[in-house]
Amino acid sequence: MKNILVTGGSGFIGSHTCYALLAEGYEITVLDSLANSSKRSLDQIIKIFKSQDLDFSNKLRFFEGDIRNKDFINSIFKKAVEEKKPIDGVIHFAGLKAVAESVLKPLSYWDNNVFGSYNLISCMKENNCKTIVFSSSATVYGISSESLLIENTPLNPINPYGSTKLAVENLLNDVNQDVNENWKIAILRYFNPIGAHNSGLLGENPLQKPNNIFPIIINAAYKKEKLKVFGNDWPTNDGTCIRDYIHVMDLAEGHIKALNHLFTQKKQLIHLNIGTGLGHSVLDLIKTFETVNEVKVPFQICSRRDGDVCKLVANNSKAKEILNWNPIRSLHEMCKDGWQWKLMNPKGYIL
Ligand code: NAD
Ligand code: UD1
Repeated sequence: MKNILVTGGSGFIGSHTCYALLAEGYEITVLDSLANSSKRSLDQIIKIFKSQDLDFSNKLRFFEGDIRNKDFINSIFKKAVEEKKPIDGVIHFAGLKAVAESVLKPLSYWDNNVFGSYNLISCMKENNCKTIVFSSSATVYGISSESLLIENTPLNPINPYGSTKLAVENLLNDVNQDVNENWKIAILRYFNPIGAHNSGLLGENPLQKPNNIFPIIINAAYKKEKLKVFGNDWPTNDGTCIRDYIHVMDLAEGHIKALNHLFTQKKQLIHLNIGTGLGHSVLDLIKTFETVNEVKVPFQICSRRDGDVCKLVANNSKAKEILNWNPIRSLHEMCKDGWQWKLMNPKGYIL
């Protein structure tokens, strides 16, 4: 049974992927600083399996620490060898992800996202582990005139967060140039992950004030406070921006497919868009949420947000073909599962 190191594994996408890894039969070693998450997400995963009469508690190890600390990362690789469960591959989620914050604290973003990734990749090389799935973002495309983004669309990030994601992509491209090393690298560019695990036990629990639309919709519905819709004068059907919302469990399963694929390869570097290929406007999302959950989402139309893009939708043909992966959960399910998570855990992971 392979042992996968999951950096940032207690966060939103990380925790759902940890669930999917265990369900697939992997053992996992989670590394997280808990800067934006709670270790309770991992307890909840074990609880979900317990409810299915499965005890996976000895298949999950947790190490609290920072990827900026190389000695710490190395100690995890060494301990895994001592325990005769060497790390076979890495899924790398750890990092900072708030666009507006990245404009105010660019050095912190380069430190956590780029220097942290450099440390991790260096430790992987030192410990002869060469398989990595990296969390990139559609944000690397920046403003594009393409109606569906394809992996070879020119890259042009427009904020420090996006620049750090592209820098790590470039670092991985360079690392892969070494003909003497058999790296297996999947760079996944996520579109807009939303929703929660359908048990209602696992979901998004940002410790900082959310900036992304979905947790904002949930809070508006829960607290009955108006949210701001950023502009209704975009060149779209209803004037609001269009995004490619993807259920976090479809995204999590994409990681498993990517990892399984890499383990069958000798040497590889692939870039894959992980989206549904379907665009929904902000008003579509709000209306679907209201209908599915029979709840009101109060909103007001405001001016456009600086740096926003009219439409970001994936061409996901490459991921579908190479990984034999298909996102199967509808916008309806994303809204239902996200709301169930909120109702079952109004304070997130706080007891
Ligand atoms: P998240 O904040 O919930 O998870 C990130 C995790 O990394 C957190 O648990 C945090 O505590 C941890 N972390 C942060 N800095 C760290 C450090 N220096 N050392 C160790 N741990 C650290 O975010 P998420 O939404 O789950 O995103 C996961 C990854 O996916 C991120 O790299 C993000 O940039 C990328 N991504 C997210 C989205 C999205 O919409 N959520 C979209 C595209 C890409
Ligand atoms: C944002 C980031 C992007 C990041 C992605 C996922 C920007 C410019 N881009 O993209 O880098 O990869 O999140 O983390 O911030 N909206 C409202 N009201 C709100 C919040 C959002 O109307 O209060 C609208 C936005 O205008 C947008 C849509 O909702 O049209 C989605 O916004 P958001 O969730 O922030 O995601 P992105 O803009 O795609």
